[in-house]
Amino acid sequence: MDTPDDPEDPMPQTRDTNRRIVLANRPKGRPDDDSLRLETGPVPKAGAGEMLLRTVWLSLDPYMRGRMDDAKSYAAPVELGGVMTGQVVAEVVTSDVDGFAPGDHVLAGSGWQDWAVLDGSQVMNLGRDPAHPSWHLGILGMPGFTAHAGLLNIGEPKPGETVVVAAATGPVGATVGQIAKIRGCRAVGVAGGAEKCAHAVEVLGFDACIDHRSDDFEAQLAAACPEGIDVYFENVGGRTLYAVLPLLNPFARVPVCGMVAWYNLSTLPDGPDRGPQILGTLLRQKVKMQGFIIFDTFGPTEHAAFLKDMTGWLQEGKVRYREQVVEGLEAAPDALLDLLEGRNFGKMVVRVG
Ligand SMILES: NC(=O)c1ccc[n+]([C@@H]2O[C@H](COP(=O)([O-])OP(=O)(O)OC[C@H]3O[C@@H](n4cnc5c(N)ncnc54)[C@H](OP(=O)(O)O)[C@@H]3O)[C@@H](O)[C@H]2O)c1
Repeated sequence: MDTPDDPEDPMPQTRDTNRRIVLANRPKGRPDDDSLRLETGPVPKAGAGEMLLRTVWLSLDPYMRGRMDDAKSYAAPVELGGVMTGQVVAEVVTSDVDGFAPGDHVLAGSGWQDWAVLDGSQVMNLGRDPAHPSWHLGILGMPGFTAHAGLLNIGEPKPGETVVVAAATGPVGATVGQIAKIRGCRAVGVAGGAEKCAHAVEVLGFDACIDHRSDDFEAQLAAACPEGIDVYFENVGGRTLYAVLPLLNPFARVPVCGMVAWYNLSTLPDGPDRGPQILGTLLRQKVKMQGFIIFDTFGPTEHAAFLKDMTGWLQEGKVRYREQVVEGLEAAPDALLDLLEGRNFGKMVVRVG
């Protein structure tokens, strides 16, 4: 990332400067130092019917890689020179919007910057002093909702069935596995490395977790699923998908949530054409595979069900949640790359202010 100042001497958030991280160049494949740029400018001024927000927490999520491309997608790309998109928890500093007062915390889509001016639309008020503000970017926010709605409405797990999910210690995968256990299923995780796999079993309560970097990953996954796989919650694609295909039971369900193993590819992956294997499995095993984009596919009914379940489970200690906190807005570009390549451990959030 280009920075106007010494990156070893990061600027703190101040009341008179707005730091913004903008898209400098569209990456071909893996983002590099030229993809994003830190800029500074004046703090925007709020007018009538608007409020001034100070960013406190910024969420980092795999979908952000897709917004750096201008290929056709479900959401518009970030413009070149535009502020990187992202959900934040912010504090209201001044407000001329009914229902929002200085000191309130809000959930907003104001992106990778210190300050923003918004009207009240698309902004959720979290109140003056929410217990865990950053959790609204994770377990109580979009990733938690994704896990809950995708697993229960598309995966339709039944007691005794086997549910497999990769990125098993991330905010989506960890939640999928824990809900599967609550629903009486066998939960098998896939994660990168021994430490993450131990966390999935010992802390999150998965029945087993397999390291996708192991030489004999496919054999280990088959051994962990002696009765086959009834629900495969697809987070990653790649080697994990190919290992799962031969294990899918008749009438298995596959909610397609993401494919992070391929997000940095600029061409098709090496190796044989897997199309016949994938479609052949769907046909022979009568598999239901359904893609979903959380806020397009599901609405207020599913969101209310999620919030009711999740707040209860958290209070009862039935769901555990892990965050990785990155310090400072200027650290966000490198942290996003870490996230895409598995060097995060838990939900990644940036403490901005
Ligand atoms: N459809 C929707 O509406 C929606 C909404 C939210 C999220 N998503 C998707 O859900 C998935 C999980 O999101 P998240 O926020 O929970 O991410 P996350 O787990 O915090 O981070 C991504 C993880 O993917 C794993 N990974 C990266 N490369 C991999 C590879 N080659 N093979 C296997 N695993 C790999 C890494 O975990 P390991 O080190 O454990 O491998 C990495 O930590 C992503 O695909 C995301 O795009 C979709």
